[in-house]
Amino acid sequence: MCGIIGYVGARPAEAILLGGLRKLEYRGYDSAGISLVEGGEIRSVRAVGNLDHLEAALSSAPVNGRVATPATVGIGHTRWATHGRVNEANAHPHVDTSGRVHVVVNGIVENYVKLRERLIADGAVFTSETDAEVIAQLLASHYNGDLAGAVASTLAELDGSFSFVALCLDEPDLLVAARRESPLVVGCGADESFVASAVPAFLADTRSVRYIESGELVLLRAGSVEIRDRTGAVVERELVEIDWDDETAEKGGFETFMLKEIYEQADGLAETINDRTVRGSGVDLADEGAFDESLLDGVQRVVILACGTAYHAGLVGRYAIEEWARLPVDVDVASEYQYRNPIVGPGDLVVGISQSGESFDTLAAMRLARARGARVIALTNSMGSQATRDADGALYTRAGLEIGVAATKTFTCQLAAVYLLALRLAELRDTLPAARIAELVLALRGLPQLVDELLAGLEPSVAAVVEWCWDADFFLYMGRHVGVPVALEGSLKLKEISYISTDAYPAGEMKHGPIALLDESTPVVAIATDSPLLAKVISNIQEVRARGAKVIAITTAGDTTVAQHVEATIEVPATDAMLAPLLAVIPLQLLAYRIAMRRGLNPDQPRNLAKTVTVE
Ligand code: AGP
Repeated sequence: MCGIIGYVGARPAEAILLGGLRKLEYRGYDSAGISLVEGGEIRSVRAVGNLDHLEAALSSAPVNGRVATPATVGIGHTRWATHGRVNEANAHPHVDTSGRVHVVVNGIVENYVKLRERLIADGAVFTSETDAEVIAQLLASHYNGDLAGAVASTLAELDGSFSFVALCLDEPDLLVAARRESPLVVGCGADESFVASAVPAFLADTRSVRYIESGELVLLRAGSVEIRDRTGAVVERELVEIDWDDETAEKGGFETFMLKEIYEQADGLAETINDRTVRGSGVDLADEGAFDESLLDGVQRVVILACGTAYHAGLVGRYAIEEWARLPVDVDVASEYQYRNPIVGPGDLVVGISQSGESFDTLAAMRLARARGARVIALTNSMGSQATRDADGALYTRAGLEIGVAATKTFTCQLAAVYLLALRLAELRDTLPAARIAELVLALRGLPQLVDELLAGLEPSVAAVVEWCWDADFFLYMGRHVGVPVALEGSLKLKEISYISTDAYPAGEMKHGPIALLDESTPVVAIATDSPLLAKVISNIQEVRARGAKVIAITTAGDTTVAQHVEATIEVPATDAMLAPLLAVIPLQLLAYRIAMRRGLNPDQPRNLAKTVTVE
């Protein structure tokens, strides 16, 4: 996740771009840069670190006639590194070999390696390790006096999910932006036009916006905007007036960060999955140099160490790695691990899962395992975090910055990453037929779309449930197989933001004690998605209903059997049974959220909790 912005108008562009980037900094702040058309040249300044560093670099950079004619056209970027290390060469804007075409990019170009090889053979000189630079070079290779035409030809060659804004010195009054899946919105002022990843970037200057659809490109000039579809036809797009206040704007129009982050899950998943998988074949984890696949050679056991939500992702990982890669897996709560003198060493692959990469206990457990000779991977959302420095390799989730204390999008991206790891291990160990791997890759790549579909229709079914259970004193969650970690995560979400007492159990354990807790006032949330164990889950549902409990079941769309046995169902789209947790947990996030809101609580800042626990 990066933030991109472009401005073309009559006012000095530098301050407008910097102001806009400040509003986009939540999308990443590893490095930043801007390019400005100034004195007949393009002045480009980039800096590692947050925007303060870019501002400092700008104030000391040489100026081309800036005082007499301040630039009124420019593009800017704030980076969340995916391909390529955090350094100035990899910071945006990226530039073609001639220096005439500049671009800022958000997202991932999946086929960049092939394109890069071709462009190099044709004489392009690359200066970064990024996938984004191929867009600048490709644009230049297609350019013949028409930037919009070059963008259309470039789009036709790119695979992936991305949006970008391009600037060419030969057409200095024009910006052309394009979008495939990644977000892009245009701001329309009187004599000026803006384009950005999100509305807050230009809300201080205009509240009139046009949303760009996937596959479209847009030409921006001072005070005029032209949107074109894939065929090149001009598209009329409704002008929307935004009435958000500043605080709502910061949350992208959502009432809280947590809700915004729930709805951002498809984007993060696409970024985490798409360029690490090849449709019709397998998985590639050679991740911007941070992950050397030789770490996976000769592994005899996997040990997963994590806390809280990340631990639940690890539990799902155990099912996937055991089933697909046929390796034994231990999953441990990191805070317990170091105090039981664990047996760990060479031959073990230790995976520390931590969205922040800074959780004290996870770091301590990873260090202990490494000191005993295990090879250690950090699976984290935070590039350059302590976990990555303490590990032999890093596998990144690409959820973007998560501000809400309750983990949501980082959890589903952790699930995606553990599935990728499990599949890669299966490939290397030859434990799954190629056709099954291809099938699972296809299913994984389909998840972002399914998440979008699920979220588009989820609120009414969640609202119907919240109506009758929001004031319950106790909730019990249950599931079987991969439904168990989903139940644990749903239970944690509800207790941490609503302060309702909750518990979660494997459904088969109910008779061994927890069923004694149930009466007519107890909502029981059952994970009852399609799986070979569904009939057993239904039996467990009947047992709890016989004690008067009211059951809310998470089911697979189209299932008609579970509904007969429960008070309410919330459907999720069908997918492979092993991948179902990634969809099944989303209604539980929203259920917890809506209950907390109904109880008048602030889910972004639950009492007694901190986003990152850096003490023991
Ligand atoms: C979950 O909603 C919590 N925020 C918490 O359990 C969290 O997952 C845990 O503290 C681990 O954090 P980490 O992923 O940053 O290591």
